[in-house]
Amino acid sequence: MKTEGKIQPFNDSHYADFVDLINQIYPQHPTSIIGEKHADRTREKKMYIQRRVVYNNNTLSAALVIEQWEDTYHPDKYVMNIFVHPEHEQKGMGKLLYNYMEELLLPRNPVKITSEVWEPHIQSIRFLKRRGFELAATEKECRIDLQKYDPKVNREKIDRILKSGFHLITLSQFRQKDKEADKKIWEFEREVAPDMPWTDEITVQDFPVYKEQVLQHPKFEPRAWLLALKGDEIAGLNNLWKSNVKKEMNNGLTGVRRKYRRQGVATALKHTNLKWAKNEEFHSVKTENESTNNGMLNINIEAGFEFIPSWLYFEKTKF
Ligand SMILES: CC(C)(COP(=O)(O)OP(=O)(O)OC[C@H]1O[C@@H](n2cnc3c(N)ncnc32)[C@H](O)[C@@H]1OP(=O)(O)O)[C@@H](O)C(=O)NCCC(=O)NCCS
Repeated sequence: MKTEGKIQPFNDSHYADFVDLINQIYPQHPTSIIGEKHADRTREKKMYIQRRVVYNNNTLSAALVIEQWEDTYHPDKYVMNIFVHPEHEQKGMGKLLYNYMEELLLPRNPVKITSEVWEPHIQSIRFLKRRGFELAATEKECRIDLQKYDPKVNREKIDRILKSGFHLITLSQFRQKDKEADKKIWEFEREVAPDMPWTDEITVQDFPVYKEQVLQHPKFEPRAWLLALKGDEIAGLNNLWKSNVKKEMNNGLTGVRRKYRRQGVATALKHTNLKWAKNEEFHSVKTENESTNNGMLNINIEAGFEFIPSWLYFEKTKF
């Protein structure tokens, strides 16, 4: 049912329109029906989720999503995003959905509500600031043009790591030689991911959930999950994910166990994967890092990534 002008609950019939709406707002960062459905299918029961949609002239003109992030889960912390179709801006839709969000969330006594804004969307920044939200974190996004990237220049950075006893292997290959490969990857992520700077402590979901959410994600590409092994131990990881942007991949986690840091492992992993992506005829790789993550930002810029607009995280903690 597409009831005109009314706030209505999201259901299966809304996926296509919802994805179209998001892609109108963020054409450079498109989502997909398959991706949205995967997230919904694999979400843990404890996670709060509410979605509402509004139709005008038979077009999905606005949507509200209130959720909780798996990797920073806290029962009283929420994430809310309002999406207004560019042709329906400045008609009060944002305000309508914001007030509705408050009606749903305030009785639950939230300790924090976070909202994500793309830096060029200055109207969204103004909207949140007026409602008491403050900037809490900036994820700097960078992109590398693989057509300009020359793997030969960086060969020595990879050789150095190989000579010092690290072995570089993809997850596809690691799975062939070690039955526990998936479990080892998860244990590695559990150890390293909390070192990423963020507003809240980062946690990695339990293994059964991780297997479904991460290792069976439609964008998962085990040939581009590159591990640095020291003996049987995973010392470092760099993973690339498929993207909804043609000829592009996204860099997910780059991580190195503490005892192996500052030896060039992350740099070697990054260049090996960039070379792989170029050989596979991808044109670009994008990545996002918190603005205080100097180590990772240095490595990316040094490799040839260039800054593009950031993602801003606004938080409200007083209600
Ligand atoms: C970021 C991280 C992956 C770097 O791994 P690493 O193997 O130690 O990095 P490298 O040895 O290849 O570093 C190469 C260069 O990057 C820069 N660099 C790396 N870590 C740095 C840090 N903590 N501070 C400042 N510069 C740093 C340096 O210029 C370094 O060269 P140098 O050691 O000769 O000075 C590692 O610190 C880590 O796992 N952090 C936690 C997870 C994380 O935040 N990942 C990024 C988000 S996905």
